[in-house]
Amino acid sequence: MNEVKVFCPATIANLSCGFDVLGLCLDNVGDEMIVRKSAEKGVRITKIEGANLPLEAEKNVAGVALLAMLEELESNADFDPIAIGFEIEIYKHIKAGSGIGSSAASSAGAVFGANELLGNPFSRKELVKFAMQGEKLASGNAHADNVAPALLGGFTLVRSSNPLDIIKIDSPNELFATVIHPQIELKTSDARSVLKQTVSLKSAITQWGNVGGLVAGLYTQDYDLIGRSLHDEIVEPLRSVLIPGFDLIKQSAYENGALGSGISGSGPSIFALSRGKETAEKIAKGMSAVYDKMNLPYEIHVCKVNDTGMKVI
Ligand code: HSE
Repeated sequence: MNEVKVFCPATIANLSCGFDVLGLCLDNVGDEMIVRKSAEKGVRITKIEGANLPLEAEKNVAGVALLAMLEELESNADFDPIAIGFEIEIYKHIKAGSGIGSSAASSAGAVFGANELLGNPFSRKELVKFAMQGEKLASGNAHADNVAPALLGGFTLVRSSNPLDIIKIDSPNELFATVIHPQIELKTSDARSVLKQTVSLKSAITQWGNVGGLVAGLYTQDYDLIGRSLHDEIVEPLRSVLIPGFDLIKQSAYENGALGSGISGSGPSIFALSRGKETAEKIAKGMSAVYDKMNLPYEIHVCKVNDTGMKVI
């Protein structure tokens, strides 16, 4: 096999209470990427469609992630370094700065595709640390809460980043996400710059209570507990002011039956989780009506949780 085409799914990071630790994988929104073996050592990005991104491997998240993986392989005596080179073609559908893991899809896609071509020397979990290098380039911070669900599928918890300890969490199969993306770009680095570096003990107690509640609710398929736990009193109040109509969208989601709603990743997308597709679509209609009224262009998605993650197509 000399070439693979990969579906690189979009993801929702944070999930309200789980800043930098929780994420979920979406099933029908994502990029495509072709990864090809090449006789020439190193990484070359030969084509990017759908976004204005650098072709130089060292400046592109996909290139940086794959170079990190190659560096580790080259230190492994079982691999012939001369034989390791790759070309990448990227077909972007997820907009940069949308809050649904655009950089993570590219970073994770590149290492997943190359790993497939090499006969899977790394497990999906082991690929996370390489993909995180792409996130570092994109936002200045090597967080794993988008790349982990993109690679593993489903819901994931980053229990620890150093050493990396990632847990895939079972979730109920009727869970749907509605995600609305107002057509503005919000850079993760900017959305991180508004955050405070310390939190009060009172807020921390509320937040870790909710993280535990959400994880327990997912495992036990307790939709009410999932809903009660989707709450963020640390990050959302500081970031929501950057998102037009945030309170109205959230209110509309609850009015239409959402279990919970909040900022998707670093925004500006806003997500809602619900039980069943019908409710998710009703929420989508309500959210759309809010932005229609504000004359604000948007994209909206109704997605099932994608339990597989990255895949060869
Ligand atoms: N956890 C990250 C953040 C996700 O909220 O900044 C965005 O990539």
